[in-house]
Amino acid sequence: MKNILVIGSTGQIGSELTAALRDQYGSQHVVAGYIPSAPPRDELREAGPSAVADVTDGGQLAAVVKEYKIDTIYNLAALLSVVAEQKPKLAWKIGIDGLWNVLEVARENGCAVFTPSSIGSFGPSTPHELTPQDTVQRPLTIYGVSKVTTELLSDYYFHKYGVDTRAVRFPGLISYVTPPGGGTTDYAVDIFYAAARGEKFVCPIAEGTRMDMMYMPDGLRAAMELMEADPSRLKHRNAFNVTAMSFAPENIYREIRRRMPDFTMEYQVDPLKQAIAESWPDSLDDSAAREEWGWRPQYGLASMTRDMLEKLSERLGA
Ligand code: SER
Repeated sequence: MKNILVIGSTGQIGSELTAALRDQYGSQHVVAGYIPSAPPRDELREAGPSAVADVTDGGQLAAVVKEYKIDTIYNLAALLSVVAEQKPKLAWKIGIDGLWNVLEVARENGCAVFTPSSIGSFGPSTPHELTPQDTVQRPLTIYGVSKVTTELLSDYYFHKYGVDTRAVRFPGLISYVTPPGGGTTDYAVDIFYAAARGEKFVCPIAEGTRMDMMYMPDGLRAAMELMEADPSRLKHRNAFNVTAMSFAPENIYREIRRRMPDFTMEYQVDPLKQAIAESWPDSLDDSAAREEWGWRPQYGLASMTRDMLEKLSERLGA
């Protein structure tokens, strides 16, 4: 049986991944790791073990890993792209110094490690259409620099020490549970909140700017399926392109309007977000993930929009 530690269990991905892992492996086998400034909410704390696990404190991580006999770590501590530009030093401290701590603890205790990369690991010189699995990665953001470093360091620990590191490059993740904070793809979540509240949406990304996106249930499945994949089939490790859809603001706006004809949107482009978005791929080629571990998304734009609007309206009581 696996004993799993989720670092960053109260964040955008962690809050849902912790619950999904508990469903799959049993609640007592999944420890919700958190930092004191972002404690778990009641349902997360009551459903299974939780522990303070600050990625910047290697000694603390080692103690939690030993106490709970952890064999798999999902390392989800990170700042998203826009906020990382405002706090580059902190982004590096969490993303890279923190990763170093995680990999060292994993090496000493024989743990497998999942540390997500991102479409942000690509940059302006990357081919933008059907971005290949193996291609130029020269991002201009600190978020991207830290994600490329994450990929390299994770591969290094696999080749040098045999640590079972695996990862995907997540596209923008869309969910009705925990909102993202400070990302470039956040607009694709915020637009649903505006629609469900009956408000006009002010879009910070320009018309025609396509980015890869994924509904959170597919994102959780991608992480869990990759960690269960037969290692003998993996030619790549850190990190696999995965995608479910690629759209621009006008596409998602049109899809929401099909269900809510009164919904309106206007553009007020944010120059930082727009510059980051333009440097990222328009669409990813995820054939390596499909071939090496059977990746298949289940949600497209229409099915995600239907589910998001239903669930969010329920949650917001609209
Ligand atoms: N969702 C992230 C961001 O926008 C990209 O991986 O920063």
